Amino acid sequence: MVANTERTDPDYKIGKALFSEKEIGDRVQLLANKIVSEMSGRDLLVVGILNGAVIFLSDLVRRMPAEFNVKIDFMSISSYGNAAKSSGVVRILKDIGSDIEGRDVLVVEDIIDTGLTLSYLLNIMYTRKPAHLRTCVLLDKQEKREVAVKVDYCGFVIPDVFVVGYGLDYGGKWRHLPDIRAVDF
Ligand code: IMP
Ligand code: MG
Repeated sequence: MVANTERTDPDYKIGKALFSEKEIGDRVQLLANKIVSEMSGRDLLVVGILNGAVIFLSDLVRRMPAEFNVKIDFMSISSYGNAAKSSGVVRILKDIGSDIEGRDVLVVEDIIDTGLTLSYLLNIMYTRKPAHLRTCVLLDKQEKREVAVKVDYCGFVIPDVFVVGYGLDYGGKWRHLPDIRAVDF
């Protein structure tokens, strides 16, 4: 008989919350205020990167006042990496439905790590000649950056830990958690 040395959950353990629902909510409100104060009087197209940014974007735009002229659209991309490491080569699975030439665009992403994904995506967006292209990320693993990317609005800078919840996943799981937690591999 083989000794039972296996862990009951072979892949991972959900660790402690890095950011609570309340902390995230407060931070998202501040980001929304900052975006609105810097972009008021203009029309803003907020482009969320599916699937990770969907919860963050939904909360962010709902904290913007009714008078603020905001539209939303989504892009779905797949990165040719595995779940935890990006390759930086991005394939567009679903493009935005709007023409962005001459418009103010805010790309919303859940997390920036090496920067490869966002950098690749921004290069594609720049070829479409927006008037302004800004970026908003909820989480920034600054110490992992491999290519320089302009992050205009950032929720939290975090250390090099793998996180899930509030839209972020590991292998498609845990996007639905209301808080952000570290995964212990
Ligand atoms: P980058 O290209 O290295 O900047 O990676 C960005 C992408 O990697 C994000 O859009 C996420 O899909 C994924 N990613 C990086 N770190 C994490 C993490 O800690 N949790 C969940 N996804 C992550
Ligand atoms: Mg993602």
